[in-house]
Amino acid sequence: MARTRNKPVRGLDKIVAADTMLSFVDGQNGKLFYRGYDIDQLAGRAWYEEIVYLLWFGSLPSARQLKLFRSTLSSEMRMPSQVTDLVASAPPSANPMVVLRTAVSALGMFDPDGGKNSEAANQRKARRVLAQVATIVAAMIRLRAGDAPVSADKDLGFAENFLYMIRGKAPGKTETAAFDTMLMLHADHGLAASTFTARVAVSTLAGMHSAVSAALASLKGPLHGGANRAVMEMLEEIGGPRRVRDYINGMLARKERIMGFGHRVYKTEDPRSRHLRRYSEKLCRRAGCSHLYDISHRIEKMVLDRKGIHPNVDFYSATVQHAMGIPKEYFTCIFAMARTAGWIAHVIEQFRDNRLIRPSSNYIGGFDRKFVPIEKR
Ligand code: COA
Repeated sequence: MARTRNKPVRGLDKIVAADTMLSFVDGQNGKLFYRGYDIDQLAGRAWYEEIVYLLWFGSLPSARQLKLFRSTLSSEMRMPSQVTDLVASAPPSANPMVVLRTAVSALGMFDPDGGKNSEAANQRKARRVLAQVATIVAAMIRLRAGDAPVSADKDLGFAENFLYMIRGKAPGKTETAAFDTMLMLHADHGLAASTFTARVAVSTLAGMHSAVSAALASLKGPLHGGANRAVMEMLEEIGGPRRVRDYINGMLARKERIMGFGHRVYKTEDPRSRHLRRYSEKLCRRAGCSHLYDISHRIEKMVLDRKGIHPNVDFYSATVQHAMGIPKEYFTCIFAMARTAGWIAHVIEQFRDNRLIRPSSNYIGGFDRKFVPIEKR
């Protein structure tokens, strides 16, 4: 029997699977670029919606374009009542990422462009999906706390609207700015596992809702977006800065993975974590939970000294979100909400130059087995 024996590349490490104009992760120099702009230039200076516009349309918006884009997104935050009911009917024990994934999948059934994959339909769906993901997450947080969902305010920007929808009152400027920056830092990241998943789904000509649902399934795992929640659980378990040493020593001795550390592409500091560290320190101080920042900072120093591994985006985003009063169960959903912009941009890019993504496998099973009828087995 003729058979090829090409050794597979485990984890597709360094395999180039797509051309993209959206973002570039420079792992050697610890840089991230959105359409050619270094995120260090954008963080704290451009609103999340500007970054979404940049990713989707290729250039930063003018003030007029931004105003229009913002109000379009806010007005698309309405959600079909059936999807709100679905979110409300999820068992309290259900993982919020499962609820979000199920709700996005359901949204596809109610979307007026549901079955259409034209560029124009995709542009319309893009705005709706991004806006409605925010509404789903906010509604879930409120419903699970026993509160009625709050509708978006059409005069607020994306980050402010989300915080308004979860709290029922407008957030302060510092919080809005920190949350907005956190969203923009999560907006896109090359061919991350979830983004690749989205591209694989649309390469079959499945539509945008299918791709975003698939991406959500992929992001949920603790080796990807699920790490931020695991970081918070670890910080709570440690409890105080003095316990860091023993706790981390124990993890290293047991060869356990320290959540929020390490990255497939970055071989140096993740530039996103540098920005989030600053916000974490500031917000933890304001919220009276400086000990969590101190624990984090000690872990960072220790893991870097002992293993030479740097924190990734999930490490400090945990304390940023916690200090803003967001329960840890929803951290990954907020990552998902921000990354939906990137997934959508990749979906549209894939549609524009599509070829079915269908790699090969290396068969390592046997041959020449003889079939035995069931009555003789
Ligand atoms: N804690 C402890 N050791 C880690 C580590 C971590 N978080 N991340 C990587 N390492 C070590 C591995 O044990 C391995 O060491 P070894 O060569 O001695 O066995 C080495 O670094 C390479 O790890 P590997 O698993 O091959 O890297 P990868 O590119 O496949 O994995 C991640 C990348 C992100 C999956 C990995 O770093 C990880 O599991 N991190 C924790 C989860 C996390 O924070 N995910 C969010 C990513 S944004």
